[in-house]
Parts: sequence; C-alpha cells; structure tokens
Amino acid sequence: MIKHLVAPSILAANFGNMQRDIEMINDTDADWLHIDIMDGMFVPNISFGADIVKVIKKYSQLPMDVHLMIEKPDRYIQSYRDAGADNISVHYEACTHLHRVIEQIKSTGAKAGVALNPHTPVSLLDDVLEDLDLVILMSVNPGFGGQKFIYQTINKIKQLKEMIIVKNLSTLIEIDGGVGLQNAEVILQAGADVLVAGSSVFHAENPKLAVYALKNLGVKGLYA
Ligand code: DX5
Ligand code: ZN
Repeated sequence: MIKHLVAPSILAANFGNMQRDIEMINDTDADWLHIDIMDGMFVPNISFGADIVKVIKKYSQLPMDVHLMIEKPDRYIQSYRDAGADNISVHYEACTHLHRVIEQIKSTGAKAGVALNPHTPVSLLDDVLEDLDLVILMSVNPGFGGQKFIYQTINKIKQLKEMIIVKNLSTLIEIDGGVGLQNAEVILQAGADVLVAGSSVFHAENPKLAVYALKNLGVKGLYA
C-alpha cells in the first residue's frame, strides 16, 4: 500500500526567514510543499503572488503544490506554472467554466486539482473527476491558517473516496485545514491521501519531528 503524503503549508512559516524554513522542510520526510495564494477577494486575506513562489522554488527541493484561492484563476495559471508550480489547484466556487480551467492547467504540464469549500458537496465533481489529479477538500473555511478542523469533512472524504473507487480513478484526496496529529489517523482512515499541515508543523516545538510523526503515524513514542 502506498503511504500517504505530507505537505507542509508555507503559509505558517516565518516570512522573515522563508529560506531557513524552506530548507528546514527540505531536510524532512515531507513530500510536497503546499503554497497558498490568496487574493483578498475570493478569501478575505492576501498572502503573496507568483514572484514569491519563484523565490520559494529557488530554495525548495520538493514538488510545489499551489492552491489558488483567487477569483478567475484562469488569468494566472501560466504565471504560477512559470514560477515553478507542479500541482495547480483552483476552487470550484471560483470557476464558471471549471472544465476549461482544468484543461488549461493540464496544457501547461502541471497536475490539475480542484478545491472544494466546506459547504460544497463532493457530488458536484462527478462530471470532472476523471480529469483531475487531485481534489482538495477544505476542512476549514479558506483564508487563514490555524483554524479548527470541520468534522463533517470526514464524511466528504468517504463519499469522494467511494466516487473515485467506483470510477476506478487514481485521483488523490488532499485535506487542507486544521490537520495535525490529533486527527490525522481518522482522516487517513476515511480515505485521504495527502495531509496539508501548516500550524501543526511550523508552530510545533520541533517542526522536523512533527513532519516525521505525521508521516509515520502509529509508531509509538515519537512525539509527545
Ligand atoms: C487555508 C489554507 C491552508 C492553511 C492550513 O486557507 O488553504 O492551506 O495554510 O493551515 P493550518 O494547517 O494551520 O490549518
Ligand atoms: Zn491551502
């Protein structure tokens, strides 16, 4: 069985020491680096743009998992791909012509993902699921790190997993928001493949150990 992936979210890093924090993550078992782009319109917060993603790319050795929380993301797909994004995910709620945007992402050579807000049912992906490399289920309302995991997400993971199995697809299920050691096992048991972890990694006393513990769940005595 393939082991789950862990994607630390750079949003929770120390922005005054980005290089140090990125290099610290290079030296862990992390699989991807999750990068949150916020425009102050689709979500209430603003993070950073493609120029900063280029800088992150310069220091990171991990595939870059770019999560676009922006309106009309079709305007920026190519810029983030050029900045070094390996995966590009857009929000279902931000795309009138979602199928076209998915095609656009794929045409750049990036892996294509769609993110769903907590209130958006997974059944709405039924007609595009086979085109997707990954689905991000938001387990908090997007816009900020450090929020509480919304437990209904567990049911959504199970439903989505069922859809993926029935269609015989290899689409990955990524869970984003409020993920940590306290709920990672339940999330994975429900069928998730990728754990995004911001605060639970970067705000941990020992971030490297936090990544190790998320990657090696069930191994006793690793993490207090
Ligand atoms: C929320 C972002 C998340 C965030 C997760 O809008 O999409 O990726 O960085 O942060 P934590 O793990 O602290 O909830
Ligand atoms: Zn995110």
